[in-house]
Amino acid sequence: MENNTGAPTGVLKDSFGRSFPYLRLSITDVCNFRCSYCLPDGYQCSSKPSFLNSDEIRRLVDGFAGLGVHKIRLTGGEPTVRKDFTDIARLVSSHPAITQTAFTTNGYRLREHAQEWRNAGLSHINVSVDSLNAERFHAITGHNRLREVLEGIDAALDAGFKQVKVNVVLLKGVNDHELSEFLAWAKSTPISIRFIELMQTGDNLDYFRKYHLSADVIIQQLVEAGWQKKSRAFDAGPAQEYVHPDYHGSIGLIAPYSKDFCKGCNRLRVTSIGDLRLCLFGSQGTSLRHLLQNDAQQPLLTQLIHDQLVFKCSSHFLDLGDTGITPHLASVGG
Ligand code: 5AD
Ligand code: SF4
Repeated sequence: MENNTGAPTGVLKDSFGRSFPYLRLSITDVCNFRCSYCLPDGYQCSSKPSFLNSDEIRRLVDGFAGLGVHKIRLTGGEPTVRKDFTDIARLVSSHPAITQTAFTTNGYRLREHAQEWRNAGLSHINVSVDSLNAERFHAITGHNRLREVLEGIDAALDAGFKQVKVNVVLLKGVNDHELSEFLAWAKSTPISIRFIELMQTGDNLDYFRKYHLSADVIIQQLVEAGWQKKSRAFDAGPAQEYVHPDYHGSIGLIAPYSKDFCKGCNRLRVTSIGDLRLCLFGSQGTSLRHLLQNDAQQPLLTQLIHDQLVFKCSSHFLDLGDTGITPHLASVGG
């Protein structure tokens, strides 16, 4: 489909018939945590980075909205370290075509800001909690803040977020014995706890070899305890969801190394400096930033995004150890 400028409109599709209603937009690479699998030495900044400003973000959202995107997740780094985070949230969520604005956070400012962010139009939130043991949480993230993060999650539930998800990166010998504690939490709390298999990135090969554990280990325990796999909605993300009649919450498993993981891919990514990434582990990024400088460039922007889609591959090839150009997930927005 084209509009009267000749630029493409309508739903983006790739060569494998997948469509892309979902954009993950990183707004900063900076993170204040030092998660052992991501930024073990903390965020390192060589020169002052210049992340997309709010005008560039507005044009980007406009461009993707014109191509059928209706869900946007703000990610980082840690997106809430940006001073203008609330303004960006408002700007994105108030776009008439965007029906769902989500964000991913380490939760360090959630307790104080949950209501403000909900009021700014954010409706879905993912918070990382890799352990429910305070010392272990400290050891993994470099911050002794489990309590305030958990209080932040309570604040998000109180503030009326439509969905609260908790991300747990599964680490062999570190947190894989904590399933019962996480299940006890889900028993009475309407959260979705998602166990994510550790992914190999450019920077974490030794770590990956030591700590990677297949999500099958968790699935087996869930099934034995009477959890049932939910049938997948047509627009579901990559998680396999499990539910249990006695629990308010649900459990999701994200197993990027499983067969067919990429078949349902419905997302594109843009980095904090405006590079389009067709895959989390792609080998190339295409800069969009030069087409975010004035409103009149919109047709060129949508044309470029549209044309890039033919390069989207069927799979990430992670099982072959190919991590593309991704040194760690903070550089490309998880
Ligand atoms: N493997 C799996 N998950 C990761 N995350 C960050 N790095 C990795 C990795 N190498 C998770 C974070 C956060 C989400 C955005 O991605 O813990 O929950
Ligand atoms: Fe920060 Fe998230 Fe990376 Fe942890 S995983 S260091 S919270 S970007």
